[in-house]
This record gives sequence, structure tokens and C-alpha cells, in this order.
Amino acid sequence: MKTYNVPEIVMGVFWVGVKDWNRRLFDALIPLPQGTTYNAYLVKGKDKTALIDTVNPGFERELRGRIDQVLGPAGQSAGISGLDYVVMNHAEPDHAGSIPYVMQAAPKAILVTSEKGAKMAQTYYKVPEARIRKVKEGDRIELGGKTLEFIDAPWLHWPETMFTYIVEEKVLFSCDFFGAHTAFGFYEDDVPELMAFAKRYFGEIMMPFRNMGAKAVQKVKGKEIKVIAPSHGPIHKNPAKIVEAYSKWTAGQTERKAIVVYVSMWNSTDAMVKAMVETLLAEGVEVCLHNLSVADVGDIARDLVDSSAIVLGTPTVLAGMHPLAVYASYLVKALRPPTKYAAILSSFGWGGGAVKQASELLGPTGLEVVGVVEVNGPPSEQDFEKVAGLGKQLAGKIKAQSS
Ligand code: FEO
Repeated sequence: MKTYNVPEIVMGVFWVGVKDWNRRLFDALIPLPQGTTYNAYLVKGKDKTALIDTVNPGFERELRGRIDQVLGPAGQSAGISGLDYVVMNHAEPDHAGSIPYVMQAAPKAILVTSEKGAKMAQTYYKVPEARIRKVKEGDRIELGGKTLEFIDAPWLHWPETMFTYIVEEKVLFSCDFFGAHTAFGFYEDDVPELMAFAKRYFGEIMMPFRNMGAKAVQKVKGKEIKVIAPSHGPIHKNPAKIVEAYSKWTAGQTERKAIVVYVSMWNSTDAMVKAMVETLLAEGVEVCLHNLSVADVGDIARDLVDSSAIVLGTPTVLAGMHPLAVYASYLVKALRPPTKYAAILSSFGWGGGAVKQASELLGPTGLEVVGVVEVNGPPSEQDFEKVAGLGKQLAGKIKAQSS
């Protein structure tokens, strides 16, 4: 029989998830340079066992192999069929997509989820109502020496999300919250660049739900937690670092920093962008530059998490913005970063249009557009002076806010 790596993260709690080393895209949108994991956990009490979340469809047998390894393979003992509870903290298929398989393989198992999760389990995974137990804040399930407590934590990606907590071992299963997309390592210290990956993940997944995230962080801070076991990426055995980072990110605290996203066809916009970067750096503002023709969307999301300003550079193409700049502006609107200020740099050949469209796209985001420089053809010396003036003005706003 195949032997799996099934680490016991604390006594009686086993990681039974999957490392998806080869996945390179999430939601057909987000690049995953280091793959990801779908962490599922088996909690073994003296009397009962519970599976916390499942894995992405396609990995059911691997999940089963790990569960059987802990509970004993079918034929010799109960194996997966002995499961008493399957906790669904979140209904998205990367964690819940194997529920139909598990519920069939474990005929006496009850699915435990939030009120909204119960509806989703019936709709997406055809779990009969009779096999679902709805839980709310503070509800508990005893497994024998291990007590599962449920914590309301809605909108931490989808509306039905919740957390599960083991009262005795003080382990928090937070599903997407506190996660990171990397298949590398197992505990936080195994991945030296983990906080950059966690920030990128926060920007991609959690930033649009910052207000709900801030409430969840307060709840987490009010509990004694020894281990945070998310559903993507490494497990935090020293949770203070990730909780403090989330505290800052969900509060929308920004740095003396500007993100510059741009695209250029014949170097006119490029020249203005580079001049703007020089001014911002000279003014003591950190700059993160992304050329949209080669940029990684995840890196842009990461840098939006704590940038005070965004500089958008785009030429006019066919009477509007370059399509890559439209895409970037849409992302800014959708991800709802705490960024407060914007500047627009644009060039055109024979007729404008990009600036008007950029202003229309960025307007509803609440960003204050501090200024615009638009040139016809290559920028002149006077144009560079205008860019430098705008850069100083923008730096002044950034510094006033972050001082
Ligand atoms: Fe990892 Fe929202 O699922």
C-alpha cells in the first residue's frame, strides 16, 4: 500500500491535504508561481473523528489515502467510512469539491457548516438536508478530549465562510483567511519568503473584504491560539506574525509607497513614467514598478495592499486606453485597495481619449486623481518638468498621509 506523509500537527490532529505543485493559475486569473496546497485536517478524538474541509476535485483518492492511513484502511478497520463529521468552513470547490466523494465513502458522516453553507452544500454538492448540521457562533461538537468550536467569520472570500477551533489544543482552522498560495514547506519557518506570498494572496483574495477581515482579526485576537492551520500554504505554529500582518492589511494601513503600472508602445509613456519614478524616489517615496506587458497580476495585487498612491501610464490606442491599462484599472476597482491618490501619465499620436477613459474608470474607486500629464508624441523638456511637478505634488500627499 502506498505510504503518505501525514504530519501530526498537534496531538491527534493530522494534515491530510494535498500539495498541487503543478497548478499555475487560480480562478483562471491569478498566477501561482509555486503552486498551492489544499489543506484538509483530520481531528481524532477518543470517541469521534472529524475531517476539516476537503480538497480540490481530482485529488479525492489522495485525500482518502491519507485519511485511511490515520484511521486504518477499509477492510482492516473503519478507514474513511468511520468519519463522524465533515466540517465545511467554506463552500468553494478547492476545499469543498471532494465533499460528494467523502460523504459517499463515509455513510454515517454529518456535514457541519454555517447556515449559508448548508444551502450551498445542497445546491453545489447535493448533500441531503438530513445529513447537514448547521452551526453558529459558539456552537460546539465533542469528539472525546477534543472539542470543536465554531466561529462566525462570513465574507472571508464567500458569504458562508466560518472558522473552526479546537478548544483543548487551541488550533484555529481558518480556511482561506491567513493562507498563502505556495506548495513549498509545511510550517511557516520552512518558507523564508512566506510573508511576501501571504501578502500577495491577501491582495488577490482578501483585500476586497477588508472590513469583514478586520472583524475576524479582532475575534482571533480575543482568543488564545497556538496554531493557525489555514487551507492554503504553510501552517503557523507562531501565529503572532501573520495575525499582526493581517491586522495592518485589513485596517488599510499604507506605507510611503507608490505603485506604478504602465504600458508603452513607442516609449513616450515609458519616458514619462521613468521620469516620475526618479522624482518619487528623490522625494523619499518607495516605488514598485510594473510594466503591464510582462507584469504578474499577483505582484500588482501584493503591492496594492499597502501603497498610498498609484501612477497609471497608458498611451491612447484607438481613441481609448491601451487594453492592458483598462485591465489594470478594472483590477484596482475590483480589489478595492486602500490606495488614496492617483496620477495619470499619457501620450497620443494624433488624437487623445485615454485620459478621459482612465478618469472614468478610476473615478468610482474613490481615488483622488492628483494630476494628469498628457503629451502629443515624445515628451518635451517642458513635459518632463510637468511630470516632475506632478511627482513632487504626489509625493507631498503620500508623505503627509504616512508621516
Ligand atoms: Fe481557497 Fe475561497 O477558496
